[in-house]
Amino acid sequence: MFEISDISVDYHSLTKDENYIFVTDSWKPIISYQVISDRRDTSLRSACIKMNQWEKNTDEQRVLVYEGEPLHPFSNYEITITAEDDEGNTACKTVSFQTAKLGSKWGAKWITDTSQKTEAGKSPRPLEFMKKFTVTKPVEHAYIVATAMGIFDLYLDGNRIHEDYFAPGFTDYEYHLQYNYYPLKLTEGEHELRAIVASGWACGRTTNVSNTNQSVSMLSAKTPAFLGELTIHYKDRTEEKILTGTDFLVAESANYLFADFYDGEIYDPRQSITLWKEAEIAELSVHPKLICCYGERIHAHEHMEAKSYTKTENGTYIFDFGQNFAGVIEFFVRSQSGRIITVRHGETLENGKLYVQNLRSAKQTVQYICKEGEQYYSPRFTYMGFQYAEVEGIDDEMIASGDFVISAKAVYSDIAPIGSFTCSNEDLNQLQSNIVWSGKSNFVDIPTDCPQRDERQGWTGDIALFVETACFNFDMNRFLAKWLKDMKVEQGALGAIPFVVPLRKGVTPKITTSCWGDSCIMVPYALYQNFGNKTILTEMYPVMKKYLSDVRRWAGLGAIKTGSTNIFALPFQFGDWCAPYGNIKDWLSKGAWTGTAYYSFACRLMAEIAECLGKEKDANDYRRKSEKIAETYLRKFMNGEGALPKEKEFQTGYVLPLYFGFGEEKLRQKMAHHLWNLICEQGKHISTGFTATPYILFALADAGLVKEAYELLLQDTNPSWLYQIRKGATTTWEQWAIIKEDGQMNEGSMNHYAYGAVGDFFYKRICGLTCTKPGFNEFQVKPMVGGDLSYAKCTHESPYGQIEVSWERDAVEEKLYHLQVTVPVGAHCDVVCNQLHERIGSGTYEFEWREA
Ligand code: BGC
Repeated sequence: MFEISDISVDYHSLTKDENYIFVTDSWKPIISYQVISDRRDTSLRSACIKMNQWEKNTDEQRVLVYEGEPLHPFSNYEITITAEDDEGNTACKTVSFQTAKLGSKWGAKWITDTSQKTEAGKSPRPLEFMKKFTVTKPVEHAYIVATAMGIFDLYLDGNRIHEDYFAPGFTDYEYHLQYNYYPLKLTEGEHELRAIVASGWACGRTTNVSNTNQSVSMLSAKTPAFLGELTIHYKDRTEEKILTGTDFLVAESANYLFADFYDGEIYDPRQSITLWKEAEIAELSVHPKLICCYGERIHAHEHMEAKSYTKTENGTYIFDFGQNFAGVIEFFVRSQSGRIITVRHGETLENGKLYVQNLRSAKQTVQYICKEGEQYYSPRFTYMGFQYAEVEGIDDEMIASGDFVISAKAVYSDIAPIGSFTCSNEDLNQLQSNIVWSGKSNFVDIPTDCPQRDERQGWTGDIALFVETACFNFDMNRFLAKWLKDMKVEQGALGAIPFVVPLRKGVTPKITTSCWGDSCIMVPYALYQNFGNKTILTEMYPVMKKYLSDVRRWAGLGAIKTGSTNIFALPFQFGDWCAPYGNIKDWLSKGAWTGTAYYSFACRLMAEIAECLGKEKDANDYRRKSEKIAETYLRKFMNGEGALPKEKEFQTGYVLPLYFGFGEEKLRQKMAHHLWNLICEQGKHISTGFTATPYILFALADAGLVKEAYELLLQDTNPSWLYQIRKGATTTWEQWAIIKEDGQMNEGSMNHYAYGAVGDFFYKRICGLTCTKPGFNEFQVKPMVGGDLSYAKCTHESPYGQIEVSWERDAVEEKLYHLQVTVPVGAHCDVVCNQLHERIGSGTYEFEWREA
């Protein structure tokens, strides 16, 4: 068997969901494909890729850029790939995709209703836009392209025509705005098109300061606005367009009395709009480029069952979904008209009550006013971070008789799950599950810090730290490339990367700072390594360079104080952010160490990136700079023996230089021992904040302290990863102990992914799977056994196909281990286990090795 198993365009698989038409606005689509074979060591002799008149013969499988004649808007294209393996077997596959507007002009006009009055500090009420039209002859096909200032749902004849949530997503609306394409089934007769547009990110309350006057400037529109073009192709080859304009009607939604992300939704199904008026042409304050959806769309994924419920003394019911997540509830109810059902959402309980203090000002509440009879409700224009839903307005009888049945749906972007990790330790399996859930919960169109409180912002540092782990577990390529497009346009004039992206005109600072700023290098680098996306490096290279020149400028300015132009401390550093010791002041005071260490690391990554882009001189300059900074760190901050001064010792201060590769091997050994001694002094506990937590186990294990790394990983008293598991966590927390040992709450988010960045260690060290040539074209398998694990296994759907690694301790002979590795066609793997060194091609292989 030799087959082409997948073909993707612009990194979107065209074979995995056959019901979905992939639509793109890219002029030069990027084509990749995967092949599978049941014969070991299969290699590709050649392949021929055909699209239009364009033909390319190649043995490459990845990132082939279409270079044929220009594409036309709204056209269907076929790609046919014929591949031949090294034995002459052939395989062939054809797929199709579609273009959207491809930059062609919009005839439609933005419409809104500026007479809508909104209370200061509140999000505007959803608007509905409506147009009736008649189809008088047979239709060949029809479609609509639509977008909004706000988030929209589209209805044809009373039926919603899509499953997407929150279209057109969150971008910096000053520059980019996505639009969506939907095919329509139209028959002859009367029709009604309706768009409901809620405030969303463009005109809703979406920052923790947006109830102050200051933040009004952040909003991209004062009232929701809509833009749409419906095209009908008739069988007689004529065409008709229905364009938004003043012949559309508008009214405040009669059903959606309120909707925004932080506070929730109020829905009354009993009402209908009685007073329509002519839509107004909207004068938008922003003029973004409209591009057909280039990120991942947002959908409901897991169905969440309520595991149990309790009745509170106030007569409300608290339902427990057994899992913290981002999403929405849904319920069926049989009731008389007028019953008000209110649902509040929270991540945990405190003394049997819903805990809401960590939501800050976000209300996370939905309210539903029943009509008569059986009905279903689930919010459409908001989402919540929660495990518990407190319901008011129902009674025992309704629950017992099935007149009220609640469940929920996890809602997040379509980041395909591509990885798994399991091992013999159930706590670590739970931790892996928590990491994955924190990922899902925070990938709602942009990489957010948290899904529950009045924040949910694209904090750059959080994803810089989590990106490696994320890329093992999910296909992050399109999702993050979309986000980076906003980062690129939002970079400050001198190079600063905003703390949050999209920042829009926001109030969060744009100040050059390490780690958070380094996201402009670390995130594209991860997309290149994991998915072979070289385009993103080319795109982002000027941003990275400008950012580093600003770092250099600040380091230069700071030299008056620090005594070296290699120390990056000014103007501001997050330092040991969220460390378990001290307070914010203490964390920030570590800025010179973290800033400088990251400065060296960023230059090292830049050297690699420059080399990959063929910029030799830059590569050399950055490499030298990286080394100089590393030397300065060792000389200025440590004694010659790799030790920090006793009174200034902190774990992060060792972890970063170790992980970033500072100093000679001998010195590194010493540093690792100082680190371990410090960990021991702290009762074998971790005490790093955001910036070093992802790296601490690597720092120990790679210096030979494998047993110690496992000991730290398996620690279960506070602070530690497994302490959270012991406290029942189902997602990873913002701080080590959100629930304190005595059960009291430490205000903070229970769904932040930064500490979950330890997941990278599961794949790269426990299973030993590391990518050695971008896109896993070549990779290494070098397991690190320990922690009394009797087996570990990971899978990863790489750009070439499925990789599997599993090892198991022999049932009889303790030091003997069995290993199984699966390599996809087109890739090679180096297996390195003690005395065993072997290079293998595609197929599944088994090995044995003995630990010393
Ligand atoms: C966010 C973080 C973020 C941090 C930086 C917090 O409020 O939740 O995760 O990186 O601020 O200041």
